[in-house]
Amino acid sequence: MSEHWIHVRVPATTANLGPGFDALGLALDLWNEVWVRPAPTPQVRVCGEGEGLPLDANRTVQAVHYFYQRVLGQTPPPLDIVQYNRIPLGSGLGSSAAAALSGLLAASALSGHVLDTAAFLRLATDLEGHADNAAAALWGGLTVVVAEGDDLHPYRFTPATWQIAVVLPRVDLSTAAARAALPRQIALEQAVYNLGRAALVVQALREGDLALLRRAMQDRLHQPYRLPLIPGAAEALARAYDHGAAAALSGAGPSVIAFAHTDMAPIAAAMQEAFRSAGVDARTWLLTPSLNGAAWAWVEAPDNPLTE
Ligand code: HSE
Repeated sequence: MSEHWIHVRVPATTANLGPGFDALGLALDLWNEVWVRPAPTPQVRVCGEGEGLPLDANRTVQAVHYFYQRVLGQTPPPLDIVQYNRIPLGSGLGSSAAAALSGLLAASALSGHVLDTAAFLRLATDLEGHADNAAAALWGGLTVVVAEGDDLHPYRFTPATWQIAVVLPRVDLSTAAARAALPRQIALEQAVYNLGRAALVVQALREGDLALLRRAMQDRLHQPYRLPLIPGAAEALARAYDHGAAAALSGAGPSVIAFAHTDMAPIAAAMQEAFRSAGVDARTWLLTPSLNGAAWAWVEAPDNPLTE
């Protein structure tokens, strides 16, 4: 059995940021960690969020297989995998992209077949179907991805130091269902509504301009179709604005995310209360942007993820 492990860390991400559907992403300071080593008998242990996740739903394991098959034309060797998840699953915080990238980066490191970051973005996007979370998770900071045919072009910007509240209601809403709720076509005036705001939301996030963010973090492409699927979510966004923050659905939801430059605990509590009034329990996280993206290293052993 190998004495050394590959250790991979991948941050949570929030996509869309209001008007930037499938294009904008921001890395958050909340990390999934994975340790992988070759072993005579394969083993997968998941702790933290998603503990007890069945193997056939484990995106990290799927991504390891995907990398070996797609890039190397092989099946992977038997592996001992330990996952410590801090990113809640199915939340709109990029847990799926983080899991996919953990598997891709671990497989690359283990096989000695190192790719450039853009190649990892391509592979993760093939698995995920959209590039916004994966780009922010790979590069950290604030990212904008544009596609030209099959080519993806990511751009990274440094965000200001925001205080962030994420509120996750106990509502089952898969990304697939949240995408299926969207119309295939949108009116020109709705596209125009989003265009100016998508440009301004990037400027506001970089400059730390809260007044501009409150104006820019509005959307007519996806939120009007998704908010009705999440009891209390529209009210939670309204409470965040009442408290002086800017807020949006995080990715495809069901979590909502609020930005300001103040103690976010009262804002998170007000948003949580909006969900409770709709009969839905909700968990909260107080976070900041992460300027760093995913990284890996060889280590001696997992640093006690099972008892943290
Ligand atoms: N841009 C994607 C969506 C993000 O809104 O469906 C999913 O997390």
